[in-house]
Amino acid sequence: MLQERIPDLSQCVEPDRVRKEVYTDPQIFELEMQRIHERYWVYCGHESQVPKPGDYTTVQIGRQPLLLVRGKDKGVHVLYNRCPHRGNMMCGDRHGNTGEFFRCSYHAWTFQHDGMLRSIPMMEAGYAGTRYGKDNPDCSMKKAARVESYRGFVFASLAEDGPTLLEFLGASKIAFDDMCDRAPAGEVEIVPNCFRVIQHSNWKIFLENQLDALHPSVVHQSTGRAAHEVEKDIAKKTGKAPLSYHMLSAFATVTIDKWDNFQTLNYPYGHCILTGYMGLRPKDPDTLAYEKVMHKAYGKARTEEILGVNIHHVLIYPGLSVQSPLQQLRAVRPLGVDKTLTEIWHFRLKGAPEPIYRRSLAYYNLVNSPATLINADDLENFWKCHQGLASDGGDWVSFGRFHGRDIEKNGVVETGPNMGTSEAPMRNQMKAWADYMGSGR
Ligand code: FES
Ligand SMILES: [Fe+2]
Repeated sequence: MLQERIPDLSQCVEPDRVRKEVYTDPQIFELEMQRIHERYWVYCGHESQVPKPGDYTTVQIGRQPLLLVRGKDKGVHVLYNRCPHRGNMMCGDRHGNTGEFFRCSYHAWTFQHDGMLRSIPMMEAGYAGTRYGKDNPDCSMKKAARVESYRGFVFASLAEDGPTLLEFLGASKIAFDDMCDRAPAGEVEIVPNCFRVIQHSNWKIFLENQLDALHPSVVHQSTGRAAHEVEKDIAKKTGKAPLSYHMLSAFATVTIDKWDNFQTLNYPYGHCILTGYMGLRPKDPDTLAYEKVMHKAYGKARTEEILGVNIHHVLIYPGLSVQSPLQQLRAVRPLGVDKTLTEIWHFRLKGAPEPIYRRSLAYYNLVNSPATLINADDLENFWKCHQGLASDGGDWVSFGRFHGRDIEKNGVVETGPNMGTSEAPMRNQMKAWADYMGSGR
């Protein structure tokens, strides 16, 4: 048993280092699924993914297959993707429309969009006098214990108790406010479909990388330099290079010392914000046209407030990475101790001119998609990290950069001035991990 082998999980986590088994032990992985992913709020999808009654999309929470479905009453429901009769998966496709009701493909039990049993073939004849029938909740599809939506982003918790979604998100809800406020209509719409990447590494390696401000100018330097060369070349020939080159060249021009100018803010539950932004508020005609639309929607002062929000990245533990100024979202779905799925999405700002959407699409394709070297270079390191951690070459993972220099104010841990490359976000995530796992520290 795990408990016998590792008597106290808290021994795995020290303030500035973590045991390698946290990343490689399949039994610790099982406990993580029970105690973190299947208990706290996990992102299911955006309401615009299921606009019409009967629209559904599948979603994995921990080890549980679920369905996000739009009901006739316009509400969204999250149900286990399982027929209560003999356990058949209700929907085999990744997404679709189930029509007026769900109908199991095995023996044709049918269910309402909220999972309630609707009919069983020859129910009276077959089940009269048995415990099975409409009054027995075990004959309906099981619902996620709790479902809440914030500005169109739907989360579910598979535990009856715990913090509300907003209590859980705390300051990290700014990811959704920042994204939606940038839309003149105040909301966003998902762009179907997403990229799906399976990484051969533990899920926490991806999360730790998201706010690792030290790595971009190392890992992505080659891509940044190549883009910068071309950018300069085009600018020389035509007077100015397209903005999309800046998205890549910034990896070379923003050097390590500049990354230190940024700051991370680390919150309870493992959430974290990386401030600073790579100068993406240019004065080109497209931006100016967009600002005009924003002025009309919000007035000048409020527009300034909205566009002045200074965020590069928000990490919502245990499985969401949001880059709100460019409407990017990555959801992390652990599949096994060394196998992680990421779903890479982007959104359209409702009411914004088309060129602003094209900018989000360019960032999606150039920086976050599997087609870009940025993603490939990250993936290579994730795999190599996992390989190294699985070896006997050492027992600990170090998170010591700027340790002891963080500033704690009212439960929020800020990195000190000029310490943006601090490993404070990883320390914060592992501290939260230890708390979730019930060991405290
Ligand atoms: S398993 Fe679904 S109706 Fe039989
Ligand atoms: Fe990276």
